Amino acid sequence: MEEKKTIFSGIQPTGCITLGNYLGALKNWVDLQNDYNCIFSVVDLHSITVRQNPAELRKRCMDFLCQYLAAGINGEDNIVFFQSHASTHAELSWILNCFTYMGELSRMTQFKDKSAKHEDNINAGLFTYPVLMAADILLYQTDLVPVGVDQKQHLELCRDIANRFNNIYGDVFTIPEGFIPKEGARIMSLQDPTSKMSKSDPNVNGFISILDDTDTIMRKFKKAVTDSEGEIAYREGKSGINNLINIYSGITGKTPDEVVAEFAGKGYGDFKMAVGEVVADELKPIREKYDDLRKNKDYLETIYKTGAERAYRISNKTLSKVKRKVGFVDRPF
Ligand code: TYM
Repeated sequence: MEEKKTIFSGIQPTGCITLGNYLGALKNWVDLQNDYNCIFSVVDLHSITVRQNPAELRKRCMDFLCQYLAAGINGEDNIVFFQSHASTHAELSWILNCFTYMGELSRMTQFKDKSAKHEDNINAGLFTYPVLMAADILLYQTDLVPVGVDQKQHLELCRDIANRFNNIYGDVFTIPEGFIPKEGARIMSLQDPTSKMSKSDPNVNGFISILDDTDTIMRKFKKAVTDSEGEIAYREGKSGINNLINIYSGITGKTPDEVVAEFAGKGYGDFKMAVGEVVADELKPIREKYDDLRKNKDYLETIYKTGAERAYRISNKTLSKVKRKVGFVDRPF
C-alpha cells in the first residue's frame, strides 16, 4: 500500500474562528483527514506578532483547539497541538531566516496590510512571520497545505526557501503544494464585500464566528450588504451577491452556476435567509459539540499533550538533519 502523504495547516489564535477560516481551511481539513497523515496546529507563536493579553490568549488557544475537534478533526488519529509546544518550530525558523531575503519579505502583501493596521508595533516578528510559517510546513516534510487564497503568497515563499536550501545542501525538504478550495477560498466581509472576512474586524456584523448561534447568524445575513440591482447573478461588480453565492457553494458543494439556477427569480431577502439557514445548520452541531467538549479539560489536555510529543518527535528529525547539513556539531545529549 502506498504511504499516506502529509498535510500541515494551522490557524492563528486571534479573534475567533470565522466562517472564512472554516470554508477556506478547517472544513477542508476535515474532508481530507482520512486520506492523509495530518498535523494541525494552533499557531500561537504567530499570534504574538500582534500584542495579546496573556490570560485571554491562553484561554483562546484552548478554545481554538476545542473548535478544531468540534468541527470534526479527529484528534486521536491526527496530530493536533500548540505550535509553542514544539520548540523545533522557532529553531528552524531562525535557521531559515538566514536563507530568506529582506526583499522577499518586503513584498509580502500581508506584512504591508498588517503594518498599516498596527503602525505603532511594526515588529521584526511581523516581518519574518512567513519564515516561521515555512518552518511549520517544512519540519514535517509536508506534501499538501490546505489554506485560503490569502496564504498563497506565503506558501510560494515557503517553496522558494525550501528549493534554495535543497539546492545548497541536497534534498532536505519536501516541496509542498497548496490546496486552495474553489469556492470558499476567499470569503468576504458581510458588511464590506470588497474586503476579506477577518477575525479581527471590529464590526462584528462583518463576520460569522463558527460559534455564533442561529439567531445571530440569521441577523448578520439579513444585514449583509448587497447591491441595488435585485438580480441573483455571479459576475464581476456584484461582490456582495458573489460572496453569498460562494458561501452557499462552500457549504452545499453546489457550483455557483447551480446556486444561481436554484435562486433564479428570487429576491435578495429570500436568498440571504437561505444562505443564513445553510450556514446555521452547518454550524449548529459544531457549536453543540464545542459546548460539550470545552468542559472536558482532561480530554483536551490528552489531545494536545500527545499531539505535542508526536509533533516534536517528527519535526526534530528534520531539524537534526538541517543542523547537520549547515555544519553544527552534533548535540551531545
Ligand atoms: P489565519 O489564522 O489568518 O487563517 C487561517 C486559515 O483561514 C484562511 N482564511 C480564509 N479563507 C477564506 N476566506 C477568508 N476570509 C479567510 N480568512 C482566513 C487562511 O487562508 C488560513 O488557511 N499564516 C497563517 C497560519 C499559519 C499556517 C502555517 C497555515 C501559520 N503556519 C502553516 C498553513 C501552514 C494565518 O495567518 O492564517
